[in-house]
Amino acid sequence: MSNLTQQTVLSIHHWTDTLFSFTCTRDRSFRFDNGQFTLVGLEIDNKPLVRAYSMASANYEETLEFLSIKVQDGPLTSRLQHLKVGDSVYISKKSTGTLIADSLLPGSTLWLLSTGTGLAPFMSIIKDPEIYSRYKRIVLTHTCRFIDELAYKEYITQSLPHDEHIGQLIRDQLVYYPTVTRESFHNRGRITDLIQEGKLFEDVGLPPFSIEHDRLMLCGSPHMLKDTRALLKEMGFTEGTHSQPGHYVVERAFVG
Ligand code: A2P
Repeated sequence: MSNLTQQTVLSIHHWTDTLFSFTCTRDRSFRFDNGQFTLVGLEIDNKPLVRAYSMASANYEETLEFLSIKVQDGPLTSRLQHLKVGDSVYISKKSTGTLIADSLLPGSTLWLLSTGTGLAPFMSIIKDPEIYSRYKRIVLTHTCRFIDELAYKEYITQSLPHDEHIGQLIRDQLVYYPTVTRESFHNRGRITDLIQEGKLFEDVGLPPFSIEHDRLMLCGSPHMLKDTRALLKEMGFTEGTHSQPGHYVVERAFVG
């Protein structure tokens, strides 16, 4: 297929037995906006099998990074999870997506609400220096069932604040709020409940969502998106598009 390139796997990290990430080479002509997704896949039965994956790497990085679940009988992820360094993967030449800052009206706090692999596009966005000039604060929430599914937790809290290029922005403007729903942890519960109970705002020390100041990007499971959308709609928030910017934008977390 002419719209796919072949890239080489450079590293693989298994977070849990259901979650892994990998990095691969990047075609010199591949361009994307932070927060976007592309197609990633393998050759299976002599044909490319590809699925949508958000880039977890920023657009200025030399390599690409993707976060994926492992589904034992999933047509792609059952194979993708066995990737080894040096293997070849297909990456589309194109990128697209709705998690774009231009689709949001100006505001002061940007909330990035994610569940599971919905974190991936936000890993790209929090490494984007431009987002910190648009907003005073960025709050990244990540909700998973279990603590060990909080991928990149140490990277966000230990490494990024010391990054030579964006460390200062991360330290001054990023708030990371991981939560877990099925075991004991210092932040516990679904993000929808934590919003409704006001616990999220108490914990991060910011006022509850207001149409005037707060903008949101959502990426997670269909249920989380449905419930969060309903909450925001009730508060009068509108969904933004490229042609009509609004108060929030939404992307489904892709499953292989
Ligand atoms: P819970 O454990 O209460 O189902 P999943 O692995 O099913 O995609 O879920 C990822 C995280 O998203 C879990 O912590 C899960 O919580 C949470 N979640 C699932 N459905 C919703 C929802 N409707 N609203 C908010 N969070 C949700």
